[in-house]
Amino acid sequence: MIEAHPASGNTLNTHPVLSARDLRRAYGSTLALDGVNLDIRAGESVAIMGPSGSGKSTLLHTLAGIERPDFGSVLLSTSAATPRDIATLGEKERSKLRRESFGFVFQSGLLIPELTAVENVMMALMINGVPRAAAQEQATQWLGALGLAGMEERRIGQLSGGQAQRVAIARAQVTGARVTFADEPTGALDSATGAEVLSILLNSTVGRGNTLIMVTHDADVAAQCDRVIHLRDGRILAQVAATQGASTQRSAAGDTN
Ligand SMILES: Nc1ncnc2c1ncn2[C@@H]1O[C@H](COP(=O)(O)OP(=O)(O)OP(=O)(O)O)[C@@H](O)[C@H]1O
Ligand SMILES: [Mg+2]
Repeated sequence: MIEAHPASGNTLNTHPVLSARDLRRAYGSTLALDGVNLDIRAGESVAIMGPSGSGKSTLLHTLAGIERPDFGSVLLSTSAATPRDIATLGEKERSKLRRESFGFVFQSGLLIPELTAVENVMMALMINGVPRAAAQEQATQWLGALGLAGMEERRIGQLSGGQAQRVAIARAQVTGARVTFADEPTGALDSATGAEVLSILLNSTVGRGNTLIMVTHDADVAAQCDRVIHLRDGRILAQVAATQGASTQRSAAGDTN
């Protein structure tokens, strides 16, 4: 079914790859997610913004099947097969799904410092059963494509922050991830390096027809995405479609103040 998405200025008109329905998640008396509804289309880039504690990471982790909601569903349709509700899958199935269909780029900390750059990227493939030699070849290709040729054998601590994030992007993409989740991927970088990493992240995800869902505090970073979702107290306050950096208000789920 092709749905109209008035919230997006993107010309893509594909089916939603992820549909969240009435997501709720409480931590004690804190409502981290308070009824979130969201459709994200294949090939779309979406930025999630909002104050600290507004539920951004919780939403990202719930969409990615890292955390389970207390209520609601997350329908994933990466193929023609019937959409699957990630929220009802057990940990083992969600883990398999994350390894095979999703990529993750976080602010820092997901790379293994004891391993070299190429080993970090190879790991993502070898966990999925790809033999070592093939994994090494593909990992080397990705590192080269992201400008890290000659740095394959360096450990993560021997790379700059921007270089380490490129390794993280290579690791997230080497498996052919249909959806990439990024939490503050440029948060620890200076603005020039951040812009470079963002451009590489966009090119290697939506540039290849895949989907990017990114949490950021930086409005300039968010403006590079097709759509910006503003969260407040676990609810979607507004959705803004961005057009080449110049954002225009297309749709609001509530007031925008
Ligand atoms: N494991 C947890 N245990 C208890 N409370 C939690 C837990 N994780 C999140 N929360 C609470 O849920 C709310 C949303 O947290 P979340 O991490 O999603 O916010 P965020 O928007 O990502 O914030 P930040 O910008 O600071 O990263 C916050 O009030 C937070 O304290
Ligand atoms: Mg967070």
